[in-house]
Amino acid sequence: MRNRRAAVAAAATAVSLALTLTACGQSGEGGSEEDKGDAKGATVGIAMPTKSSERWIADGDNVVKHLESKGYKTKLVFGEDDPDQQVAQVENLITQDVKALIVAAIDNKSLNNVLQQAKDADIPVISYDRLILGTENVDYYASFDNEKVGELQGDYIVDKLGLKDGSEKGPFNIELFAGSNDDNNTRYFFQGAMNVLQPYIDKKQLVVKSGQTELNQVTTLRWDGGTAQKRMDDILTSSYKTGRVDAVLSPYDGISIGILSALKSDDYGSKNKPLPIVTGQDAEVASVKSIIADQQSMTVYKDTRELAKVATNMVDALLTDKEPEVNDTKTYDNGAKVVPAYLLEPVAVDEANYQETVVDSGYIKESDLK
Ligand code: GAL
Repeated sequence: MRNRRAAVAAAATAVSLALTLTACGQSGEGGSEEDKGDAKGATVGIAMPTKSSERWIADGDNVVKHLESKGYKTKLVFGEDDPDQQVAQVENLITQDVKALIVAAIDNKSLNNVLQQAKDADIPVISYDRLILGTENVDYYASFDNEKVGELQGDYIVDKLGLKDGSEKGPFNIELFAGSNDDNNTRYFFQGAMNVLQPYIDKKQLVVKSGQTELNQVTTLRWDGGTAQKRMDDILTSSYKTGRVDAVLSPYDGISIGILSALKSDDYGSKNKPLPIVTGQDAEVASVKSIIADQQSMTVYKDTRELAKVATNMVDALLTDKEPEVNDTKTYDNGAKVVPAYLLEPVAVDEANYQETVVDSGYIKESDLK
């Protein structure tokens, strides 16, 4: 810790110096790397998983914005959902002398070696949104209450099917989807949802006709919508020659859109075949539009602007020799240690409250929903 403290103090001096110096412009480095720094001082490396989803682009931009407002320089990279590329990018950031790292991992374990290099160089690491597993070299975790995300999705299904109203309701057919198996959040989302849904499956008020109920049967590699669409197609063909799907647990908006495409190809959404309840997560523009159009039923809004602030404050505290603020020191055991975390609250959003939650808060522009 001593070493880090010394490095941290030096970085702090550099930062306060930076505040008084003028902008230095772009670094001109190529590839997918973007040097967003315009003030001299400590540089913070930010590794985001992909540009294929709007949330991660916004996450990257917001982290950069907050860090710059505190006088830091930043280097932001996106890994195109390729774990090897992300490892190479983080390694590269370390050699570029970043003073802290904020990483949203693509694969929860592939970064272990490179994070040892970070440790050796006294660079603190914040795990962003997704927990990095199997290494002590993660200092803090900034995320949402991930189990709650799943609970909100499960609650929505139970509510809309009226299952709480009495054991005579049902049986209803449900199919289950989960996220990428290499993302630690996946099991928390699924667990949260199953905490709510399993009792009704046990009572046979909910029936999974495909029989695919185990996490390892329902994951969707890299959260890919096309992969989910194909699985839904296959399920409809093999398990719904008779009967109808009443609900689909989907963990993420990109997956929900894929599921809805498969359903619509099978005539769901037509007069005599209503669409099932379909959940989601992230309040992406396409999904909020779909909710307004009565297709996707709900999403879970996570204000990633707040997440960016939390991660930035953690870095700022570490680089100025203060204790980062946390609100959870028990939940997130990464296999090597319990990582102290700050968890934000997710919010369920549907047609009834999208305006006050995601539009009035400025998260989505009203004009983008037209
Ligand atoms: C998860 C994240 C979700 C969603 C998903 C796909 O790790 O917590 O909010 O963005 O990745 O990108």
